[in-house]
Amino acid sequence: MSRVPIERDVPLAGRTTLGLGGPARYLARATEDAHILQAVRHAADRGLPLALLAGGSNTIVLDEGFRGLVLSIETTGHTLAPMDDGRVAFRVKAGTPWPEVVSLSVAQGLAGLECLAGIPGSTGATPVQNVGAYGQEVADTLVEVRALDRSTLDEVTFTRDACEFAYRSSLFKRDPHRYVVLEVTLALTPGGPPAVRYAELERAMAALCPDGRPSLQQVHDTVIALRRAKGMVLDPSDPDSQSAGSFFTNPIVSAGEAQQVRERAIAAGLVTDGAQVPSWPESGERVKLAAGWLIERAGIQKGLRRGAVGVSSKHALALVHHGGGTTAELLALAEEVAAGVQEVFGVRLEREPQVLTGVLA
Ligand code: EPU
Repeated sequence: MSRVPIERDVPLAGRTTLGLGGPARYLARATEDAHILQAVRHAADRGLPLALLAGGSNTIVLDEGFRGLVLSIETTGHTLAPMDDGRVAFRVKAGTPWPEVVSLSVAQGLAGLECLAGIPGSTGATPVQNVGAYGQEVADTLVEVRALDRSTLDEVTFTRDACEFAYRSSLFKRDPHRYVVLEVTLALTPGGPPAVRYAELERAMAALCPDGRPSLQQVHDTVIALRRAKGMVLDPSDPDSQSAGSFFTNPIVSAGEAQQVRERAIAAGLVTDGAQVPSWPESGERVKLAAGWLIERAGIQKGLRRGAVGVSSKHALALVHHGGGTTAELLALAEEVAAGVQEVFGVRLEREPQVLTGVLA
């Protein structure tokens, strides 16, 4: 077992997909599980706050950086093993890039992750915010999370139910500084059919496969194409992809609030019929609204620029850094967008990406 390497004054901007923010006073690069425990102990022994950084695709680093120890999770690797029920247990180390995990599962003919193709970030982060797209979410296939409990320094194993998954949320997100995810186990179905249940994906697959029997690979590739058209695939040649994906979650409101939004949209002349406001039923008679729709209809145009930051020209829900900007500019734009939606629709948007913060161990 080697010692975890710890560097000083390390720029963090390049470790995030937004490319913004200041340096870490210290950065520990954990390439083995044991390094993670060592880094947590190192921070605790020295009274340093500790922050976690994984793929950096959902992280906002403040301009002042982080004056503590940033623990970079870089453990990689996976195993595949048959399960008693005929599925295959895909056990993946936290630092493994998620797009590789999805591609590999599809190449092996394992169904369950194909709609989650092209989502940047690392595997350990996926249960934290219950990553989802195109009708699938990690909670659908996840069976187990192994994590380090920072409060006891013990390893703990969570079953799927214990993770308390919800839309873009979990136990790990609600108690953000307590656990470090070490490994995720997904149960995938050999030879299973792809999940085609998101309207936009259904339309694309019907056009591509008139026989109605698309392969996992076709669905995987189509999802990537749909994401690319929205600037949601990392691509140095696409200036809209320097972002954190969706900057806000889709608001989940009561039936009464949803009705008020429809009435406001009609009163403002944005729609002629409340049914034209995109919405989806959620459990408990709650309603999910489309944040991207609300943003555009609040008068915030795709492609809007505020200095070095702006709204993606392809999708109103993504805020983009065009280079040479600051996190303060980005957060000011986020506030402008949220205030615009609040004024027109009376709905408060919540930020999706997390600010890199830490606590004393
Ligand atoms: N819409 C607009 N204008 C826009 C964007 C969207 O009017 O600029 C409307 C669309 O016409 C549609 C609705 O909003 O009626 C929903 O749009 P879309 O299908 O693009 O999905 P989304 O709700 O904006 C969510 C996820 C994405 C995920 C897609 C596909 C959240 C916060 N975002 O976006 O996830 O890829 O669905 O499943 O739930 C991410 O979390 O970073 C992310 C990219």
